[in-house]
Amino acid sequence: MGVATADKPIAAPVRKPELPPGPDWSLPRMTWEWWKRPLPMLEQCQARYGDMFTIRLPYEGTWVFVSNPEAIKQVFMGDPNLLHAGAANIVLLPLLGEHSVLLLDEPEHMAQRKLMLPAFHGKRMEAYGEMMARVAADQIDRWPTDSPIRMRPRMQAITLEVILRAVFGVEEGERFTQLRGELRSILDLSAKPRRAMLMVLLGPQRLGRFPPFRRKLERVDRLLIEEIRMRRTAKDLAERDDILSLLLQATHEDGRPMSDRELRDELMTLLVAGHETTATGLSWAIELLARHPAELERLEADVAGGDGTYLDAVIKETLRLRPVVSLVLRKLVEPMEIGGRLLPAGVSVAPSIYLVHRRPDIYPEPERCRPARFRERPAGTYTWIPVGGGVRRCLGGAFAEFEMSAVLRELVSRRSLRPAGDAPEHSVRSTITNVPSRGAEVIAISRTN
Ligand code: HEM
Repeated sequence: MGVATADKPIAAPVRKPELPPGPDWSLPRMTWEWWKRPLPMLEQCQARYGDMFTIRLPYEGTWVFVSNPEAIKQVFMGDPNLLHAGAANIVLLPLLGEHSVLLLDEPEHMAQRKLMLPAFHGKRMEAYGEMMARVAADQIDRWPTDSPIRMRPRMQAITLEVILRAVFGVEEGERFTQLRGELRSILDLSAKPRRAMLMVLLGPQRLGRFPPFRRKLERVDRLLIEEIRMRRTAKDLAERDDILSLLLQATHEDGRPMSDRELRDELMTLLVAGHETTATGLSWAIELLARHPAELERLEADVAGGDGTYLDAVIKETLRLRPVVSLVLRKLVEPMEIGGRLLPAGVSVAPSIYLVHRRPDIYPEPERCRPARFRERPAGTYTWIPVGGGVRRCLGGAFAEFEMSAVLRELVSRRSLRPAGDAPEHSVRSTITNVPSRGAEVIAISRTN
């Protein structure tokens, strides 16, 4: 206790930054838990340590998880110059490139984000609606009927086709087919957890030089740059409404257009960020619907003649109960108080999408699939966060929900769904997304037979 004297004022106590508690496992055990059973591990840590806990991962550093809505709000609304999201995604650098909006921070991030925002404005989504429904209907009509089929590869095929068309506005043709093939091949490189682990272990610099990766990337880059250069001089550029054409007409604050390299990096970002994620969300929606016949029936009625609000609730409940990604990251540039604790600089704060979506005080009976909860109470900004928040909130969030609606509408009006097998599928890791363990296997019986 300090005693004030005439020449010695009381000094304000200096608070030292500190980390919340967390498991003291060895690094190999920690790595194994995080790669093999991330979601049970998060639940276990929350049960033991509460709303804030720390884990340490090799190559990733120290992560402080938060799942209290107030703390999440502090992170999402905090100064983006002090809470870096780009730095936390650095492993994607060789694939996405240095101009990617996902990898930048501070003014450089805001500059790229501003250029891209208009292309994702809610109103613009309507322009893509018809194309999304057409792609989905065309593929669904070619699925086998009556035998079990895995939805995940089928949803990946639909979402890849949709994002390519939305981004480039191209219809069939040799260039389109070639680009689709090359992209699929490079995305497959990271799809298997073991390969993804190798990518993490190699680190961004060595991965960029890894021959199988470099060869594939060069082929994709050549096609992307060719497409950008051809489109730049297209006579109908001003009338086109695909994302590439909109970005080609966008200008920086000083009037400069985006360079070929900037465009290449943002296109790659959209293709990577917008394809696998939406396919995973759709796969989970189908898996859940096949196992909840009453919910499926209500959805069918809504699609046949309702106002679409139940469809919207089904999508919200799917992304709550089976979030595609389980966390977002912000690296602290300086010590910061979050959730009542002063956290040290250099650690990453991780708002846990998975844990906040399972809070019984916000979602009674959190494990139950009950879409109607979103009709009773709208999704909260800091309690329903499947696409993150603040100035880093997913640019394609509205696009993804719109696409999920279009695909589910086509699906339930063309097929009737049954589960394949008795046991519900659990969540397994596929690189960064959490996917259904058997690929969302269902029987999709044709309604026209
Ligand atoms: C269900 C589907 C999707 C999910 C679950 C999802 C999830 C996310 C998450 C969690 C983030 C990080 C947010 C944060 O740090 O606060 C993010 C960022 C981003 N997403 Fe998505 N996403 C989806 C679909 C899409 C689509 C369709 C696109 C593009 C067409 C897209 C483009 C982006 C971009 C560009 C960013 C970076 C934003 C920034 O850093 O400013 N995403 N997404």
